[in-house]
Amino acid sequence: MKHYRSINDIDNLSEWVKEARALKAAPKKFDALGEGKTICLLFFNNSLRTRLSTQKAAMNLGMDVMVMNFGNEGWTLEYGDGTVMNQGTSEHIKEAAQVVSQFCDVVAIRAFAKLEDKTRDEAEEVLTGFTKYTSIPIINMESSVAHPLQALADAITLAENKTTSKPKVVLSWAPHPKALPHAVANSFVTMMQLQEADFVITHPKGYELNPEITKECTIEYDQEKALENADFVYVKNWTSYSDYGKVLQQDSNWMMTAKKLGKAKFMHCLPVRRNVVVEDAVLDGGQSLVIEQANNRTYSAQIVLKKILESIK
Ligand code: CP
Repeated sequence: MKHYRSINDIDNLSEWVKEARALKAAPKKFDALGEGKTICLLFFNNSLRTRLSTQKAAMNLGMDVMVMNFGNEGWTLEYGDGTVMNQGTSEHIKEAAQVVSQFCDVVAIRAFAKLEDKTRDEAEEVLTGFTKYTSIPIINMESSVAHPLQALADAITLAENKTTSKPKVVLSWAPHPKALPHAVANSFVTMMQLQEADFVITHPKGYELNPEITKECTIEYDQEKALENADFVYVKNWTSYSDYGKVLQQDSNWMMTAKKLGKAKFMHCLPVRRNVVVEDAVLDGGQSLVIEQANNRTYSAQIVLKKILESIK
């Protein structure tokens, strides 16, 4: 595998989940694979889980790790071709990407959607620029439209906790005071389409995700109906896609409660706003899988890195 930019870069999801679970049981088994190899983690945005789990995964494989908070420590990048750079940008991605690639064998990048210009966000200019101007493998640590390391960790968590071969999994929108990107929801939906499940998305009208991504999915606007007999409930806020970047409503009736959850397991990628997105009783109760989801981020990153290292050996 050359790059891991999308969940669609996985050739066989169930096989990868199986291998990731084997790595979880023996994290250091392949600690010679990354010897003499360096990964550079570039963060244009904040992180807790992605930063620590990707670093841990690389260390488990024997790699050297360099981390840079590019967003507040690097030069402001220019992406356009032929731009006269007499405004705010200091360095072109053409040079920046080539310079970074001299120092490492793999580069992992986090660059969120700015939620100001849909076309520009969907172009994923940081990830696309690094892919275009370097020849080394690129890992997506959350871009404008996708968070495939999170979705792979979620697939591992589902596999560990499901008790039937075709569980009912509900992705439920939740209120939030800020407009949030679509990346987590997009990759979760794409991942769910790669496995056997009764999968339902529920959200208020106006919060439809990119129809290209959800075109095969069941969408139920009545949250109560959607949650009936659910085995897993994945909760996430996202901004409106059609009214891009806007908070259309913050109806607290969409917050996840223990009563609504019933017997289902609760999932969220974290960080989460307590008693806005989900009530304390859910997060503090025995049906919450959020801490294990975060733990599985290590094995999601580790299986991706293992595949890449095997391909560049
Ligand atoms: N879920 C997730 O990506 O967490 P961080 O933003 O803390 O990395």
